[in-house]
Amino acid sequence: MGRPPGLSVRLKLTLSYAGFLMLAGGLLLAVVWVFLLRYVPDGQFWIPGPHIPNRSDLQRAFAPRALQAMAFLLMFGLAGGWILAGRMLAPLTRITNATRKAATGSLSHRIQMEGGRDEFRELADAFDAMLEQLEAHVEEQKRFAANASHELRTPLAITQTLLEVARNDPHRDTGELVRILHAVNTRAIDLTEALLLLSRADQRTFAREEVDLSLLAEEATETLLPLAEKHGVTLETSGDVTPTLGSPALLLQMTTNLVHNAIVHNLPADGIVTVHTERRDDASVLRVENTGRRLAAELVPTLTEPFQRGTERARTDDHAGVGLGLAIVRSIVRAHEGTLDLAARPAGGLLVTVRLPRAPRAPSPSGAG
Ligand SMILES: Nc1ncnc2c1ncn2[C@@H]1O[C@H](COP(=O)(O)OP(=O)(O)OP(=O)(O)O)[C@@H](O)[C@H]1O
Ligand SMILES: [Mg+2]
Repeated sequence: MGRPPGLSVRLKLTLSYAGFLMLAGGLLLAVVWVFLLRYVPDGQFWIPGPHIPNRSDLQRAFAPRALQAMAFLLMFGLAGGWILAGRMLAPLTRITNATRKAATGSLSHRIQMEGGRDEFRELADAFDAMLEQLEAHVEEQKRFAANASHELRTPLAITQTLLEVARNDPHRDTGELVRILHAVNTRAIDLTEALLLLSRADQRTFAREEVDLSLLAEEATETLLPLAEKHGVTLETSGDVTPTLGSPALLLQMTTNLVHNAIVHNLPADGIVTVHTERRDDASVLRVENTGRRLAAELVPTLTEPFQRGTERARTDDHAGVGLGLAIVRSIVRAHEGTLDLAARPAGGLLVTVRLPRAPRAPSPSGAG
């Protein structure tokens, strides 16, 4: 749009095809002509007819035939070129149509180019792969928006019901009402804050600085120590300096979420959580491992989905999670170009491994190795 229309590629290919054909034809005719002039001296050849022709007769006979041949070549070149170019460019038309469809929002369409592997096939396959990713992403966003709205509506609906009950029964104990309203409101604020955090991590607009994961692990375990004591969980931290590059606030949030999960989704009593950091050649690694119930292997990959709460939806303790903790961890890890690995422990509980890129600068050479 906005650009002046140019010659179509099909026309350009046709013209160049016809042009080359004319050039080759012209050259061939020139060679023939030169050959005739050179090897057939004037007046010494004979063509059946009423008289012995000379060079200028020859020229008169040759020129119109040559012109006819060139005209035929031109027509042939144009027609052949047009057909050939059309056949060559047909896949491109399909790709263009698919792009137009995608642009209008229909992402389910695929080109599915058949035939051998060539440049067009590669382009079409790459395009299909892109559409597939895009479609999955859009689906994920839709699911997320639906879930988020649903989750946000729940506390509002509860509040509404409580207020209605209070209005219809003015003699009710308001202290109790205020307590419940407060709890419901706190949950709504938690949820909104988690959503804000998620979008902040997804935007990737934070400043990056060198961060030591072992310090973050210490800070997170220290903050969560009272919670661990309340749940009867033992916290163990180990590891050396493990530098990486990123946002200290987000990486602390990530560590806190993991340790928090390891505490609250642990055994009812005598649970153990180990937090380990390690500087490897290829990555800076944070590992959080906890005892707990056995987790079904097929359930584990879904836990990082937003609002996914494992199987304990009806949990009655004070931590009724919103189910965004691991989704936030995943977003933070992605934003730092790292990888997140969840594995169910055979004995029960979860092992979470975060690998982040190493800080480019090595830390001060104080320790060995
Ligand atoms: N360390 C863990 N051990 C066992 N199960 C876990 C662990 N971490 C997460 N899970 C399971 O994964 C689910 C999702 O975890 P996630 O942190 O995303 O949500 P949540 O803890 O339920 O809520 P919140 O948003 O408050 O963290 C949990 O409900 C739990 O079933
Ligand atoms: Mg959690």
